[in-house]
Amino acid sequence: MEGVDPSAVSLRPFRISDADDFLSFAGDDQVTRFLRWNTLASREEALATIRDVCMPHPWRRAVCVGDRCVGVVSIWPGSGDDRCRADIGYAVAREWWGKGVATRAVRMTLSQVFGDLPDVLRIQAFVGADNKASQRVLEKAGFTRDGLLRKYTYLKGTLQDLYLYSFLSTDVVPAAAD
Ligand SMILES: CC(C)(COP(=O)(O)OP(=O)(O)OC[C@H]1O[C@@H](n2cnc3c(N)ncnc32)[C@H](O)[C@@H]1OP(=O)(O)O)[C@@H](O)C(=O)NCCC(=O)NCCS
Repeated sequence: MEGVDPSAVSLRPFRISDADDFLSFAGDDQVTRFLRWNTLASREEALATIRDVCMPHPWRRAVCVGDRCVGVVSIWPGSGDDRCRADIGYAVAREWWGKGVATRAVRMTLSQVFGDLPDVLRIQAFVGADNKASQRVLEKAGFTRDGLLRKYTYLKGTLQDLYLYSFLSTDVVPAAAD
């Protein structure tokens, strides 16, 4: 499958005007089945989620190709004794899968987030053992697989084994994946 031009991918804060584009992936069960969010059902829900969840979020960006929002990447920093680490999550609209968009977005996130959140030294990701595409994204972005968390959590009613991946502020994003 043809890849996206990496220079066409950018990250920016969400705008209310992203509602239709946001709904196109946040309203798709094939995208949300790997996420804790419920699938959105309407443009009104998309608008409310952008306004009440995405815009006030500590670090959430619209993943854009050109200026069109085709995905989302989020960082959840820990607090107190966990301030050294943050969780990452991401999703891309189905029509853009397999073109390198998520890998580019994760790599761009890694290049920005340690500067934006100076307490954070470790970015970590929990990925379903059956979510091969997401595992591949993390590996291409230079994450290390720390281990398998067996029967770790329920996701939408199904008990999951999760892989835990991490990337440290001192790690280097591999050059080749662009
Ligand atoms: C995971 C997700 C973000 C990947 O987005 P994407 O833009 O398609 O990712 P990329 O194109 O950068 O890379 C995907 C890689 O996975 C590979 N891949 C896809 N499906 C695969 C499968 N079933 N088995 C193995 N590899 C697979 C692709 O071939 C590609 O690797 P390659 O470049 O070596 O060929 C997207 O599938 C998605 O939004 N999924 C639903 C939400 C989700 O799972 N989020 C992550 C939660 S942890």
